[in-house]
Amino acid sequence: MTAGTPLLNIHGVSRSFGDIRALDDVSLEIHENEFFALLGPSGCGKTTLLRVIAGFEQPDEGMITLDGVDLLPIPPERRAVNLMFQSYALFPHMTVERNVAYGLVCERLPRDEIRVRVDEVLRTVGLTDKRSSLPRELSGGQRQRVALARAIVKRPRLLLLDEPLSALDRKIRGEMQVELKRLQHEVGITFVVVTHDQDEAMSLADRVAVMDEGIVRQLDAPLDLYRRPRSIFVADFIGSSTILKGTYADGAWQAVGVGAIAVGADCAGAIAIALRPEAVRLTATEDAAAVRLGTVQEVYFQGDHALALVKVDEVAFLANVRDDVLPSRGSDVGVAWDATSVIPLFEE
Ligand SMILES: Nc1ncnc2c1ncn2[C@@H]1O[C@H](COP(=O)(O)OP(=O)(O)OP(=O)(O)O)[C@@H](O)[C@H]1O
Ligand SMILES: [Mg+2]
Repeated sequence: MTAGTPLLNIHGVSRSFGDIRALDDVSLEIHENEFFALLGPSGCGKTTLLRVIAGFEQPDEGMITLDGVDLLPIPPERRAVNLMFQSYALFPHMTVERNVAYGLVCERLPRDEIRVRVDEVLRTVGLTDKRSSLPRELSGGQRQRVALARAIVKRPRLLLLDEPLSALDRKIRGEMQVELKRLQHEVGITFVVVTHDQDEAMSLADRVAVMDEGIVRQLDAPLDLYRRPRSIFVADFIGSSTILKGTYADGAWQAVGVGAIAVGADCAGAIAIALRPEAVRLTATEDAAAVRLGTVQEVYFQGDHALALVKVDEVAFLANVRDDVLPSRGSDVGVAWDATSVIPLFEE
């Protein structure tokens, strides 16, 4: 899925606002028909990157090509790129149909063509029966779909969506995620979606770039990001984990506050190791498998399992519990994991 011709090539792009380096030497390629996500905390530069790609912002340094052609001299309206803004606004006095047609009317396309294209897009987003409604007569999810339809109808090569689902509540958001994925398959447009919701990025995208302070910290497929985070930042940002700083010596990880731990991976050069909660199990204290002994501090119910916070010496371990009987707060337990599930981390 991820293999393909590079459609967009971003090379060494930087952009500062005064002292703030919103983008710091960003390089990445986005492939044809890819569903690409930009993920990162608030203020890390996601919107700035989209604005630079769309042409609303010029980079201080760097190159961007689309289909091998230099994009930077091309004004925004002439780029085969469409940006759906973080706070999109529909025209309140226009019907759904006219909102969607607006961009094509501006391009002075023939009326018949506009009608055909608008009909097609309304069908795609499932809003044919709402074509004559005004935005205020729609639900949040429907409005979002109008905004999407408006962006898709122009048939960009590249569609940039800035937090497209952030205004929606959890349930509709889940439904719209499925829609978005289906739409992308159906219309065959390359999508770049910005989100600060890791679940959204992980479930939708073919590849995810995790950004922090203007820097792309890691770019990988969701599963690889989860299984092989390279930095403490990514291990912490994607999913949750127990992070043990320390040093690698004598074939074991000498963890600060916990002591020597057997590791299955090569940890030479690592600055910390991570353990995912599903790799950590709680045992009876006398169980031979117990690697360490600890005390249960908190148990968080998560639906199909619970997450236990267990204090081992000075360190809090996270462990998934799938038993019917949850451990009680304050009880002593063994903490066990396989050496092979240790993930070495090489950067802060
Ligand atoms: N026009 C501007 N003038 C000054 N500073 C700006 C401007 N645009 C962005 N910034 C700063 O650049 C940094 C990155 O902003 P950006 O909007 O790209 O973040 P973001 O990742 O989209 O955040 P969010 O998730 O909150 O939308 C922030 O520190 C922001 O304050
Ligand atoms: Mg933003």
